Amino acid sequence: MKFFIDTANIDEIREAHDLGILSGVTTNPTLVAKEGVDFHDRIREITALVPGSVSAEVVSLKAEEMIEEGKELAAIAPNVTVKVPMTTEGLKAVKAFSDLNIKTNVTLIFNANQALLAARAGATYVSPFLGRLDDIGQDGLKLISEIAEIFAIHGIPTEIIAASVRHPIHVTQAALGGAHIATIPLKVIKSLVNHPLTDQGIERFLSDWEAVKTRG
Ligand code: E4P
Repeated sequence: MKFFIDTANIDEIREAHDLGILSGVTTNPTLVAKEGVDFHDRIREITALVPGSVSAEVVSLKAEEMIEEGKELAAIAPNVTVKVPMTTEGLKAVKAFSDLNIKTNVTLIFNANQALLAARAGATYVSPFLGRLDDIGQDGLKLISEIAEIFAIHGIPTEIIAASVRHPIHVTQAALGGAHIATIPLKVIKSLVNHPLTDQGIERFLSDWEAVKTRG
């Protein structure tokens, strides 16, 4: 499973990129709005920093408008992936983007049938939302596993991005469930690194080392 970062904040993207584990970035209108910057400028900045897929979401609801918006986003850089919501209009837009060889990420996926439809419309990625399912007492892990199984049975090349990742257990669950990618906020990426026994182990190694040096 690969790691994407879920943010539009350039400092956070730089920090994750410096860790050497980053394969891409996802943004959404909420995340971009928080930054208070020009949307296209920010996407340009991100695509220059991260060579992998950078998802930029359309905000129109009609297929034709989504297509126009998506074409403009795709023209920003070759690594832009156009993020499209899972609606009937969205599916029509995904098919059009697929015919134009523009990569798409179908977002707000909450059941396996939505993922299958998106894949058959030609989506490059589908994004099932783990955390938002947990919020309403449903099983996000089960959804990831179902989609992974269906895609495997039918030889579907669309990749699964586990989204709405809120804590480290979601990351492990996504990997075990067969997600190709997890898109994760920086705070959660950083929390994956740490374990109290690792810190204790380092402290112990260093103090043992210091003791030997003092003895000569
Ligand atoms: C995915 O691409 C979305 O941007 C994101 O993961 C949504 O997460 P949230 O449910 O924490 O807002």
